[in-house]
Amino acid sequence: MRIRRIQLINFKPYKKLILPNENDVFPRGLILIEGPNSTGKTSILDSIIWALWGPTAIGVKNEDLIKFGERYCRVMVEFEVDGKRYLIDRSYDRSTGMQVVLYQYDESKGKFIDIASKSGEVSKKMQEILQIDYKQALSTVMVRQGEVNELAVASPASLRELISKVYSLDLLEKVNDVLKKEESLLDEKLDELQSKYVPIERIEKQLKEKSDELENKKSKLKERKNELEELKTKINELPNPNFIREIEATMVRIEDFQKQLVSMSKNIEESAKNMGITCEISMKVLDDEISKRDQLLQEKLKELENIEAQIRKLSEEIGGLHGLNRELKDKISKLQKAEKVEEGEFEYRCPICGTPLSKEKMEDIVSHYEREIEENNSTIENLVKKRNVLEEERSKTRTEKEKILVEKSNLKLLKKRLEELENNKKNLTNLKNKLKEMLSKEGYTDVQEMLAKFNFKNLKELHQYIISLNEEYARKETEVDKLIEDISKIEREIDELRREKEEMIKIDKEIKENKKILQHLIHLRRVLMKNFLSQWVVQKRLLGTIKHTAASYLLRFTCGQYSSVDLVPTKPTGERGSGILLTVLDESDGIVKSKDMLSFGDRTAVGLALRLGISKTMSRIKPLKESPQKTPRIRCVLLDEPLGGLDISRRKEVVDQLVEDEGFEQIFLITHMEIDRKEEIPRVIVRKEGNVSVAEFVASKEES
Ligand SMILES: Nc1ncnc2c1ncn2[C@@H]1O[C@H](COP(=O)(O)OP(=O)(O)OP(=O)(O)O)[C@@H](O)[C@H]1O
Ligand SMILES: [Mg+2]
Repeated sequence: MRIRRIQLINFKPYKKLILPNENDVFPRGLILIEGPNSTGKTSILDSIIWALWGPTAIGVKNEDLIKFGERYCRVMVEFEVDGKRYLIDRSYDRSTGMQVVLYQYDESKGKFIDIASKSGEVSKKMQEILQIDYKQALSTVMVRQGEVNELAVASPASLRELISKVYSLDLLEKVNDVLKKEESLLDEKLDELQSKYVPIERIEKQLKEKSDELENKKSKLKERKNELEELKTKINELPNPNFIREIEATMVRIEDFQKQLVSMSKNIEESAKNMGITCEISMKVLDDEISKRDQLLQEKLKELENIEAQIRKLSEEIGGLHGLNRELKDKISKLQKAEKVEEGEFEYRCPICGTPLSKEKMEDIVSHYEREIEENNSTIENLVKKRNVLEEERSKTRTEKEKILVEKSNLKLLKKRLEELENNKKNLTNLKNKLKEMLSKEGYTDVQEMLAKFNFKNLKELHQYIISLNEEYARKETEVDKLIEDISKIEREIDELRREKEEMIKIDKEIKENKKILQHLIHLRRVLMKNFLSQWVVQKRLLGTIKHTAASYLLRFTCGQYSSVDLVPTKPTGERGSGILLTVLDESDGIVKSKDMLSFGDRTAVGLALRLGISKTMSRIKPLKESPQKTPRIRCVLLDEPLGGLDISRRKEVVDQLVEDEGFEQIFLITHMEIDRKEEIPRVIVRKEGNVSVAEFVASKEES
């Protein structure tokens, strides 16, 4: 690659800059960029890198690239690769952002034609043009300020890292890591799958067992159902157990009634006999007897009335006589009461008329009265006797009347019982009719006919038989229910097993697939590692080339003091080397020196030699064994102040070397140091005018 022309607008300290100028292009070979500190030398290299690869390549924000106080910045770089001319035009505007267009020069049309106009497309195109990815390109092209010195003193690990990075050797490691991670993930997944996996044969065996069990249960169910059917027809042919129970109950009641009737009529007969009824008892007979009693009762009542009347009459007579006697006694006492007329002389008077009576007369009347009383008393005695007889008769008649009353009530009672008996007889007939009706409904004339039909001696046995059949039916029915339940349970289990089998098939497939992938990964990694190992061979070759190139630079840069740069991979641990150790041979004392034994100036020389060695080798090395061989395209290096630690003679050697170096198409070398015969070298002279940087190109004396 060769930079032909650059044009900067508002880029960092530059307002407007065209280099070398509108009409010329940069020459091949070494170009110096010189000027005091902080004038804008690095900014020129930055502008090239930014234009070619964008903001990440220089690690500065776009915003910070715009010249203070401006709105936008723009850089155009015209460059040449493999004989073709390109122009990249990149600008950044605070408000509209980034814009980039890549053009290619069309010889036939005599002008640039745009070939890519979006960031992504442009970087892809750049990679195509340079045939190297941007990071590698950058590491090859750009040698940053201070980097050279750092390189010389880098630790083996970081030296190796740098070389690995520049040559993409770390890519393999990354791939290896990714593959390893993938492997362990797959291993984990396989472990998980295997822990879930149940061998399909085992499930199939269980399935077979369950299916056999199901068949067995199903055939049993069929058998039981047939048996049930048979039982059902048998039961249906027999009378209904409720019917039998009712018949039985009715018959028991009939029997009870009959017994009751017998004892009742016996009782009634006995009672009638006791009452003196000898003929066959009936309602009529009883009614006759009762009316007979009624008649008798009437008679007795009349009799009693008659007696009572006589007794009353006698009592009245007796009472009258008693009254008479009392009067007579009263008269007597009155007669006997004499009034004292004179001393010793008494006077008597008639109690009725008051006529005075003599004592004799009075005594005569008294005796008359006493006789009368006596007569009355004897009449009273007779009358009382008579009354006593009558009273006796009355009590006798009363007793007779009571007896008749008792007889009548007994007869009435008997009548009631007879009525009851008649009723019961009616009920019995009803029951018998009911039984008959029940039987006839089922088509039997009587129980015997029914029993004969089923060959049973009695109802109880038939009933027992029906009950036992029904019980058997119920038992079998429960068995059938249990079988149905078992069957559905087994069917569910079979479904579950089938599902499990499906899942296991899936898991099995997944395990197989994952194993395949894992094997593939392991194989891939093995192949890769084999390549990686051979990559080490490549690396050895690579290191050989680098150290050879670096050694030739170093010998020149140190005026022959140091030769034989050695880059030794330090002891590999595991699969990879852990670092690269840099040593140089000091020809002056014959000692092989490591970085720590070098002076500052030596380190600058060694670092620059190594860095140029790396850049030069870079364009020749294939990143992988399989990569196609390609012609180096970059062969351009931008060196930012690598001469810091070198004395004037070494600086001269470096510059001379770079002027003569055929390995690079173009070298930009920034320095603010004095260099011998620099007029012979094309230069960009940078300076500040106020706070704006200006730069001008001065062609070499020979050229001009
Ligand atoms: N965005 C910007 N706008 C204007 N000036 C800027 C901007 N960014 C940086 N600068 C100026 O650019 C100058 C730095 O430029 P640069 O780093 O290119 O200098 P240099 O010549 O390489 O210096 P040295 O020799 O110290 O390396 C500084 O003066 C800085 O103030
Ligand atoms: Mg600088």
